[in-house]
Amino acid sequence: MQHNNSPIPDGGAPTRNRPFGLDLREPFTHLDGFDGHQQRRLSALRGQFADEESYDRLVAGDPLVYEVYEMHRPKIAGELLSGISIIHPGQVGDEFYMTKGHFHTVRATSEIYYCLHGRGYLLMQTEEGDWAAEEFYPGRVVYVPPHWAHRSVNTGKDDDLVTFFSYPANAGHDYATIEQRGFRKLIVSKNGSAVIVENPRWLAGDGGR
Ligand code: 6PG
Ligand code: NI
Repeated sequence: MQHNNSPIPDGGAPTRNRPFGLDLREPFTHLDGFDGHQQRRLSALRGQFADEESYDRLVAGDPLVYEVYEMHRPKIAGELLSGISIIHPGQVGDEFYMTKGHFHTVRATSEIYYCLHGRGYLLMQTEEGDWAAEEFYPGRVVYVPPHWAHRSVNTGKDDDLVTFFSYPANAGHDYATIEQRGFRKLIVSKNGSAVIVENPRWLAGDGGR
């Protein structure tokens, strides 16, 4: 990608200060133009899956669960961070592979997702426990309003779930609230199809743990 930008320091990678474009095409392997590549392994999701026995057995090999490619921008109001998430297919017990899930530190910040490949859900929740689950399939756009935590879940059997996302650059990530309280719902495989069920540990009032 050619661009003749003078870099704007944001403490991180030099930032392009002139308009630019980049390509997002199947099979989503040539992701140059993205500055950050994060890999999350099963060990990063300790305590999030209901079936701890299966988790403890699987975490020994610490499989790669998902990856995030992000375009860095100054983390200031007015800028947008965007990128793609690739959630690989897999299960822990009957629960599908998923992202950690988070609220934005700045609660009054939204996010938009666009599904490029695969099938799944965006599970969302407020701090009061109101919940929603929007389906992901290619071409589907999902809007996450301010104050809603969000977690992507891949319900595909052998296919990656690939989504493009964008959100305000000053949003920040609050993982701790989800690590403490979990999500109210789980998405599990039952007789070959994805089903949204109550998270029994949430109802137990100790929130998802
Ligand atoms: C964000 C987006 C998105 C998300 C990834 C990985 O706010 O950055 O929601 O990029 O971070 O899908 O999910 P986790 O951040 O929950 O690991
Ligand atoms: Ni987010």
